[in-house]
This record gives sequence, C-alpha cells and structure tokens, in this order.
Amino acid sequence: MTTARDVPEYERDLLTQLTLRWGKRVAVKKDELDLDGHFDAALPDFPEHLVPVLHLPGADRLDREARGRILSAAWISYNAKTAAVEDEIILPACRLMLQDRIPVRRDDIAVDALHQTIIDEHYHILMCHNAVGVTRRRRDLADLRFAPGVWSVVQGRDAVRAGLSGFDRDIVDIAFSLAAETTISGFLSALATAQDIQPMNRITTDLHRRDESGHAVVFRELCGSLYRNLDAAQRRMFREALVTGLAAFRAADLDPWVTVAAQGGLEIGTGELREWAASRPVPARDTGPLRLLLDDLGIDHGLVEMVRR
Ligand SMILES: [Fe+2]
Ligand SMILES: [Fe+2]
Repeated sequence: MTTARDVPEYERDLLTQLTLRWGKRVAVKKDELDLDGHFDAALPDFPEHLVPVLHLPGADRLDREARGRILSAAWISYNAKTAAVEDEIILPACRLMLQDRIPVRRDDIAVDALHQTIIDEHYHILMCHNAVGVTRRRRDLADLRFAPGVWSVVQGRDAVRAGLSGFDRDIVDIAFSLAAETTISGFLSALATAQDIQPMNRITTDLHRRDESGHAVVFRELCGSLYRNLDAAQRRMFREALVTGLAAFRAADLDPWVTVAAQGGLEIGTGELREWAASRPVPARDTGPLRLLLDDLGIDHGLVEMVRR
C-alpha cells in the first residue's frame, strides 16, 4: 500500500507537476489558431452587457451598425488592456523574481516556472495582437489605439510606486502582479464563456484563460515564499499594495470607454460614466482564488472584506 509518506517530495510539489507538463498544456505549444477561419462577420465582437457605455442615455438611439462598431472597439480595448497588464505589470515582476536580490524560492523548478510564465505571457501579448489585427482589418478600425498608461490598474501601480525606490518598489511591483494574476482568470472568463459572440474572440480568450490557471499556482507559490521572507513593515507594504492592486484591477477604465463609445458616434464624458458606475451595485465576485492565496500567504481573510469595499 502506498501512503502519503512514500510519495517523493517532488511529486507533491505542485510547481514540479506544472513545469513538467508545460509542453503539453500551454497555448504557445499548440498549433496556431486559424483566426480568420473563426471569424463570422454577422456576429457581435463583444457581449453588450459588458459595455457600460451602451447603458447610458443616448445609447438607445444608436443604429445597429453603430452598436456593432462600439462592440468591436470594446473587444480591441479589452485586448489592449490585457496586453498592457502582461507587459507593464506581470512580465516585469517575473523578471524581478529571477533577480538574486529578491528573496523568493529559487530552486531549478522555480526558475523553470518563471521562464515558462514569461514565455506564456509574452505569447499572450502576441495572441491579443494577432486577434485584434483581424478585428481591425475586418471591421475597418485600423486607427483605434490605446496607450499602455490609460488603464486604472497601470495608473494605480504607478501611484503606489511614486516616491519608492529599491526593494520597497520591488515589493509593490510584485504585489501588483499577484493582484493581476489573481484577478485575470475572472476577467478572461467573462468573455471565454460568453454566448453568441464572435467565435475567434471567445476561443482565443479561452486559450489564454487556460494558461492562467497554471500561473495562479506559480504566483501563489513564489509570492508566498517571498512574503514569508519579509519583515513586518515589508509585509504590511505588500498587503497594502495587494489590496490597492485588487481594487485598481476592478476600477472602471473611464477614458478608454469614452474612446470606445466615440467609435459608434456616441459622445459621452468620463463624469457621466463615473456617475453611472457609482449608481450601480458592486457586482458580485468570486473571492475563491483570493481566499486560496491568502491561505497560502498566511494572511487573515479579513483582507477579502477590505478588497470588497
Ligand atoms: Fe497571460
Ligand atoms: Fe498570467
């Protein structure tokens, strides 16, 4: 009879299992998707219920074509945000965790996991770029662009970082990446599970989401090892940056939505959008991944309540 005691340490280590299976499970190792083959011009590019500007006064007067352009622009915006999170927040944090000065788990398996994650995330940027390229061409939206600094989560990270340097700044960067990696699966699921939208958009988002379930484990493990090596003041800074990051990830991206609305000729202001968002109940959210993370870090679940506010 085999008991838990007989199982070698490496088999019990989730990170070992993940890194060993990497070549078989991730998007970058699969054949590229035939994007044009999964594009149906008759279907909307994005679910209407996820587009706040379509719920503002005046939107009911838009014709079908204008609504369609707003949905296509929303899809382009969604990918621009995803790519900005990968490039601005997650990739720099992965590279940081490979540096000797960061006291994080750094055995061969951990280093493998970080390099694999870097390759995945960079491939996700390419997936976003390619999918959006098809949308720009097929929907005649070649000029629609979003700068990486327009997103609330990037702005939130920059605000917390301001005035910090050295290791304190590294802690903030890594805590924000952990917030992003804890949240991105839910963000992608909203589209990966949407019915009646462009198959190309649903499939490409679902491919990305599948990779993220592995990353959640990598980040919990590595950030957990970092957190346990911090002193009390550094731990507090990490927790505060994590809470700010989780809130910033959920905050409405006001300027990008104004740009999206303009693609369908709908003129709105950020104030109007902010008021609308404030009048709505806070959407329910799955706090399961966050609770798992807090357990791994040994942080009290009270932090979940702070994030809800
Ligand atoms: Fe990703
Ligand atoms: Fe990721």
